[in-house]
Amino acid sequence: LSQPNTRGSLTERVRDRLRQNERLRGLVYAVRNRKLFADLGQHDRMLADSVRVDIYQAAIAKHVGPDDVVLDLGTGSGVLAFFASRAGAKRVHAVEHGPMIEAAQAVAADNGIDNVEFHREHSRSLEVPGGVDVILHEQIGEALFDERVIENVVDLRDRLLKPGGRILPAHLRLFIEPVQVPSHSRIPFAWQQELHGISFKALEALRDAQPPGYWQPRSRSFPFEAFVGRPEPVVAVDLHEVTLADVPTSVSYSRTALADCSVDGLCVYFEAAFDNEHGFGSSPADPPTHWGSPLLRIPIRDVKAGQIVDVSLALPDIGNPRSWTWKVDIRDA
Ligand SMILES: C[S@@+](CC[C@H](N)C(=O)[O-])C[C@H]1O[C@@H](n2cnc3c(N)ncnc32)[C@H](O)[C@@H]1O
Repeated sequence: LSQPNTRGSLTERVRDRLRQNERLRGLVYAVRNRKLFADLGQHDRMLADSVRVDIYQAAIAKHVGPDDVVLDLGTGSGVLAFFASRAGAKRVHAVEHGPMIEAAQAVAADNGIDNVEFHREHSRSLEVPGGVDVILHEQIGEALFDERVIENVVDLRDRLLKPGGRILPAHLRLFIEPVQVPSHSRIPFAWQQELHGISFKALEALRDAQPPGYWQPRSRSFPFEAFVGRPEPVVAVDLHEVTLADVPTSVSYSRTALADCSVDGLCVYFEAAFDNEHGFGSSPADPPTHWGSPLLRIPIRDVKAGQIVDVSLALPDIGNPRSWTWKVDIRDA
């Protein structure tokens, strides 16, 4: 069953033009992002996420040394820049395009941290004469690439990172896994309902007119029961090497059902790794973080152990999950 996402309305046509124009897309994104992270509530959530904070602190302590010039991309409250300073970095350049940078400067002063240089600008215009040894970032959204981590890190890597320099974290993996939710939490599509002898099948006529949000609820997470098959990343990048041309615009894959179950949707989550020991992620099977693991809805389907679930997704802009469309089929092995 495929999930339509294209509407003929003016707003939808404007959105389509935006998706096609990379430069314009970047500008619109920067304006929205600056506004979003001007909200202290966002920093409350990120600083309170101890899974995130503790792993960054440990990885920075391991990978940053006394000779390093470090660049913290999107410093926000300054937390990662301060960890790098405490790890002994020679100098830290903290770049932030939003107003939070002023508060970060006050935190530095309060803590007697004097080797962090703050730059209030978009990272694309940042210059650091002599270059940097380490690029530090946490530009990771719920759908991994939705805070434009690839565009921003690749730009800095190609302009400012010294040969042999490190990117922390560099290994990013996106998962879009068929999942089952607990039966009491299922919300079937209205047209799938048969209630006390009344069929609601006729409501399917409204299906194509629904906006993208109908298929991709905004709620950060959903009640998780099990993965249908064995999870595998559908996109994996090493930020030391990736180019924009490597980013896929579609993916197709299959999973073998491990047990009789239902397929309720596709769960989007990620893993990010600094090295073999230090990493974090947003799998619904792991302890919760401030990131959610959103569900791409499909009409609920039963599947038998050993059957194959075929998934294909169009990702015209991998950084904008609202542009994605998907199709799920079930067949015998
Ligand atoms: C997810 S927050 C992380 C903040 C902080 N590094 C932390 O770990 O708590 C990302 C921050 O990057 C900033 N940002 C995003 N893109 C940027 C860019 N291209 N240049 C400068 N700042 C950027 C945002 O305003 C936001 O404060």
